[in-house]
Amino acid sequence: MDFYRNLSVKDWASLLPFGVACVAVGFGVKTLLDKQLGTAVNLSVRKSESKVADSVDIEDIGKQAVFCRCWRSSKFPYCDGSHNKHNTLTGDNVGPLIIKKKE
Ligand code: FES
Repeated sequence: MDFYRNLSVKDWASLLPFGVACVAVGFGVKTLLDKQLGTAVNLSVRKSESKVADSVDIEDIGKQAVFCRCWRSSKFPYCDGSHNKHNTLTGDNVGPLIIKKKE
């Protein structure tokens, strides 16, 4: 502890850029982790809308429709298989909702 007490103002000033860099890196890592693993479910789908809601007429569904539940699909609201990458990266286990017509 005496080491820190013996530092001059000039010594502390020379440590300032290192401290700022550490804070910046920490903030960047936290932001990245929050984006990948954080509480927000929707990271990129139609973010300009206050609420993402979709409606599909049952008559327009052929034999089946596969809907995304992971919010990572580039074809949202339909599944494009992106849940596989999401599950691998996060350890999650989400998958699509598959709606089928009875034969
Ligand atoms: S891409 Fe989202 S559930 Fe398949």
